[in-house]
This record gives sequence, C-alpha cells and structure tokens, in this order.
Amino acid sequence: MTTAEKAGQLTQYFYFGGIDDAAADPRHGPLPSEQAARVEEAARRGELGSLLFVTDPAEINRLQRLTVEGSRHGVPALFGFDVIHGFRTIFPVPIAMAASWDPELIERAQSVAAREARAVGIHWTFAPMVDIARDPRWGRIVEGAGEDPYLGAAVGVAQVRGFQGARVGAPDHLIAGPKHLAGYGAAVGGRDYDEAHISDSELWNVYLPPFHAVVEAGAGNVMSAYMDLNGIPATSNRWLLDEVLRGTWAFAGFVVSDANAVKDLETHGFSENQREASASAVNAGVDMEMAMVDPAFAHLPEALECGETTEATLDVSVRRVLEAKLRMGVFDAPFVDEDRARDVLADPAHREAARVAAERSAVLLNNQGDLLPLDAAHLRSVAVVGALAASRRDTLGPWSFHYDLDETVSVLDGVQQHLEGIADVRYAPGVRPTQRTFPSIFDQFGDNIPEDPPGFDDDRELARAAELAGEADVAIVVVGEWQSMIGEAASRTSLDLPGRQLELLQAVVATGTSVVLLVMNGRPLDLRWASEHVPAILDIWYPGTQGGTAVANLLFGDVSPGGKLPFTWPRTVGHVPMVHSHTRSHDPERQGERYWDEPSTPLYSFGHGLSYTRLKYSDITLDHQVIAPSETLTASVQVTNVGERQADEVVQLYLHQRHGSASRPVQELKGFRRITLRPGEAQTLRFAIGPDELRYWNAAARDWVVDASTFDVWVGGASATRSTTQFRVTEAD
Ligand code: BGC
Repeated sequence: MTTAEKAGQLTQYFYFGGIDDAAADPRHGPLPSEQAARVEEAARRGELGSLLFVTDPAEINRLQRLTVEGSRHGVPALFGFDVIHGFRTIFPVPIAMAASWDPELIERAQSVAAREARAVGIHWTFAPMVDIARDPRWGRIVEGAGEDPYLGAAVGVAQVRGFQGARVGAPDHLIAGPKHLAGYGAAVGGRDYDEAHISDSELWNVYLPPFHAVVEAGAGNVMSAYMDLNGIPATSNRWLLDEVLRGTWAFAGFVVSDANAVKDLETHGFSENQREASASAVNAGVDMEMAMVDPAFAHLPEALECGETTEATLDVSVRRVLEAKLRMGVFDAPFVDEDRARDVLADPAHREAARVAAERSAVLLNNQGDLLPLDAAHLRSVAVVGALAASRRDTLGPWSFHYDLDETVSVLDGVQQHLEGIADVRYAPGVRPTQRTFPSIFDQFGDNIPEDPPGFDDDRELARAAELAGEADVAIVVVGEWQSMIGEAASRTSLDLPGRQLELLQAVVATGTSVVLLVMNGRPLDLRWASEHVPAILDIWYPGTQGGTAVANLLFGDVSPGGKLPFTWPRTVGHVPMVHSHTRSHDPERQGERYWDEPSTPLYSFGHGLSYTRLKYSDITLDHQVIAPSETLTASVQVTNVGERQADEVVQLYLHQRHGSASRPVQELKGFRRITLRPGEAQTLRFAIGPDELRYWNAAARDWVVDASTFDVWVGGASATRSTTQFRVTEAD
C-alpha cells in the first residue's frame, strides 16, 4: 500500500448521503450531498477504511461495492454505527438498562440490537459508553450506567458480551467499542466536551475500572474521548492509550478517535496544525480517525516525510484495522442479504425482549398507602395527563434513529390498550412540549424537534387537564424531559422539570384525585415537591418501542417493579455532584454543616427502588471473621418474600473499610444479584469477599493495596440499608 492508502485505511468517514441538504447547518462544513460525493471519491481511490451512519442495507451494499471494486486492493470497508439501545427495536436507554441491575437482561438486549444491526450490514457499534457520570447536568449521563464503578463495570461487560457474542466475528454480532477513554463524564460543570480534572485516586478507583473490565471481556475496539484529561487531550494521551490500555491491560484491538477529535487537537491548542495533530494521535495509539470531512489523517504521509511519525507506527495501526476486518469476515462476505435483513428486523421476539427490558428497568420511587398497583377492575375512568404521555418519539429516548413510530407504544397507547372495554381513558397534554433554548445537533435527522401544536392555549389546556383529572378515579401524570433535552450536547444548568410541568402536576394534585406520577427521564430531576405530595412515583425512563405496554403492566400489577437507582438522586442541582461512595470528614452528621439551606442527604439514595411486595432480610453471616489479605470469605444472607405478590429484588452488598493507609468511602458497592421471589419464598445468597473487593489504588503508594483493617459489610435492597456485620483483614504474612 502507498502511504496515502494506509492513511485511508486508518480513516473513518461519516456518510450523510440520505440527509436532506436543506436540514443541514452550512456553518458546520459542506452540505451532506457534497460530503457524500467526497467520501465516495475517497472510496474509489482506495483511501477509506470505514464508514459510519449508513443504515440502509441497499446503500451499504452500494458503498461497499464502490470500495471493493473501485480501489486497487479491493479492501472492503467496516461499517460502524451508534447502536446504543437497539437498532430497529428500541430498548430502554442505557441508564434505564443499568437500573435493571440485571446483566443477563442487558446482554440479551444488546445481542438483539447486534442481530438487527448486523443484518443490515453494520459491523461495529460505538458502545457501550462506560463513562462514569456523577454530574447529572451532563446530558450523556443517559448513555451510561451512572455513578458507580462496580455497577458500571458489570453493565459494560454484559453489553460487550451481548454485542460481540463469544468472540469478535461471531455470526449475528458486532464489534463493541467501549467509549470514551477516559474521564469524559467528569467534564467540568457538566458542560459537554469541557475538560476533566480527575485525581489519581479517582481515576484508578472510579473512572478506569469499567474500561479495564470491558477490555478484559474482549472488546474489539475502544474510542478515545474528546476532552483534555488533566491537561492532555485524551485523543493524544500516550500514557492512557498506550501505557495503560495496551500495556497494563493488554488491549489487542484497535482504537478509534471520537468524531473529529484528531482534528480538534489543533482546537485544544495542543497541536500546531493538522499534520502535527495526525502524528501525535497515531503516535499516542489512535489507529483510526473518525471524521466528517478533511480528516487530519490525510496529512499522515506528510507527517511521515517530516519524521513526525514512522512507517512502522502506521503499519501497526493498519494491521490492527485489517485484522478487525478479517475477524469480522468482511473480506469473505463484504455484502449483505437485503431480504434477510427485512425478516430479522421484523422478528416479533425482539419487541418482546424490549417490553421485558422496560418492565425490568422501571424504578418505583414512592408508593405511599400502596396506591400501586392499580386495580383495573375497580376503575371506571382514568385521566392520562402530560404531553410526554402521548409522544411516541420521546418514549424512545435519544440515540435512536432507525425506529418505527407506528409500532411504538406510548404510555397513553399502553394504558388505553390495557383498559380497553374496562375503563374510560381520557387524555390531556396540559402543557405544550418545551423547546430547547438552543437547537440540538441531532435536529438534522428529522423528527427531533417536538411539534408545537397549533393554537395551543397554555392556561386553558392546563385547566382542562386538571378538570379531566378531577373527574377521574385516578390520574396518571407523565412529566420529564423531552428526549432532545438529554444526550450528547444536551447538558443543562438546572434539574427542574422543563416548562410548566410542575404547575400542571400541582394543579392535578389539587383536585384531590389520586395521582400516580410517571417520570420520563435519563437523569435525576428536581422532584422535591412531588416526593412530598404525590403518593406514587414510578421512574419509567425513556422505555423504548414497547414502553407503553410495559408501563401499563407495571401500573396494573401484571409485574412488580424491581429496578434500582444507578445514581444518587440529589434534591436540587446545587447538590451536584453527590455520590453514595463519598469519604467522611469533620462533623458529618450535624445538619447545617454541609449546607444551611437544604438537607445534605439525597432525595433518593443510590440503589433505592421499591416493589409491590415486602421483603425480609435475615442477619448476614460470614464464614470467617478474620482473613489474610490474600484470602476470601463468604457472606450469606437470606431474603424472604413476606408479601402477597411475586416480585424481584436486587440484593446489594456494600463494604466499608474503617481505617487504613487512605480514607476510604463510607460505603462501596461490591456485589449484587437480582432475584425473583414468589410469596413466601426464601433464597439464600452468597457473596465472595476477597482481594478483588478489598483492594484499591492508593495515591500515596501509587499502587494497589489491601490494608489491614476492620470492614463493615451491609447487605440489603438499597445503599441505605442497615443490616450489618464486620470482619477483619490482618497484615500480610
Ligand atoms: C460522540 C460519540 C459517537 C460519535 C459518532 C460523537 O460526537 O461523542 O459517542 O459515537 O459521535 O456518532
């Protein structure tokens, strides 16, 4: 290959052939049609390694033919896409899937997503996002598993297994590309793309463990992050991409940059020009550049001539990319069977899987007086209130593109279907959809902007909603954020319910009718008022294609909610960041010391989630009270369903090290299991506690340590559990 051909193999282009020029923002580069023409030219020259954002199998075949037949060597392209929570069948958003605390469910969901995407000719997904997110102002919190490294690692590994199957290249599966290495979730102020400053201890103990876990699970690709990590752009961070990722963790796949992140090295004020940017990225360990147009990697031949990089460096990267293509079988089978794709996308088993996922990810936040589940037999009329209740697009959440709205079930659809012939269901939006102050980068994909209904009179609609609720036996109110308000480039300075939704809720509650509140969200919102005045609150997230059916099944008791919060729910944006695994210092219990204007406790704690039954935990027993640092003990606990209904519980194990060579968090999640219990049924669960659970990165020793100390163990159904015992770890022999 010539150097230009090698640089081409290391380049991945967006392809926006299907996008209307009129919808594009010309300030952001060439029009989609021009961009598409330039990409096709690169394909014909044999200077293109991969494409992203093409999802139509016929189009994928056409572009692949161009690549294979047009170029000298006929090296086929890899097709990549953001298959984040489903392809055609949309599953609940990733934060919701994490709230299921159910790795098997997550694995199954991503294998369905992989099957659909692979059927249309996609080889590679830019997922899972394993960035720890501790600041809900950051819109991308919706794409990850929340605040906790232990849960984050388990959820990330399950996704890699689901996407990839047994190995890279397994039939019906994709290459998984965990992202964004590393620290993107710690963007200062929650402002998307801004720099992250992460201490050594936090980096190793919090932000890196999920990445390490997905690499160990065999992820074939990793994506580098946009921002500066401790002053060095992540996309040119040799320590991160080479020493840690490839050295310490022995990652054998290929690294892709985030979109335009190599070009951005100049924007950061890091590289002097695009040539230097290309050299510094490839030298640091980026094998492939993801770019819109004019990739920085087109300058690699020049960089080579100037001695800024070496032929050997390029060859190593080209070899990694070609190896991925070989393993995915793209040389043997570059084209896709369009008829089969149609059948796979229509598979009803996929929709069924999405419904189960939505049921299992909902989190019951409040349920005073056991208002839920509702008894359909005793209802004559139900009011469904809130514009989000009827919006199928919003039910799907962000990062969904290839959905079918006709088969999407909104909350209103689901409740109507469930109560057909039983009760009268009446709907009032109450508020108009709220618009963002600034447009979204996804607006160009068509239906992103919520429609403003013509002639909508806000005051009149609000009053009508309250009137309708007043006449009903029960009001189901849906509030939250419109899906365009969360995701990439969707950070907020507030956690308030957008628009007049709180006012609407207050007006409905004031009627005296029983209210069930459903929250459609991907981050914690300010529910202080609701938590005090609304008896039942169910977090349904953005529940996906089958969301409405799942929500109705939960509301009317066909299934019991069993999800748990994957983040600490702050009372207000001023609490941010707030996590369950903080350390302690001076006067921790005294009110008014942390904030004098607001309790310093969260509204709902990490791991919280109620169910329709009552559970009893027996005392924890340990098989050893004292162990050496290299030994493992077993903690056992019995959980009994003492209520009337079958239900799930997520049994959680937390540890606290009382003293040692660093201050350790008040609690750390170190084990969990989701179980199903019939009424009266008991199960004994066992958790191993050994070096993996006890060790941590000590910033003073700059090493992993297990301290001799006393440890508290808690097991329960939330992080606020009180059932506890202790054990001791001795000094090493
Ligand atoms: C995002 C990535 C995504 C890529 C391709 C970027 O802007 O940060 O997460 O995979 O676009 O869509």
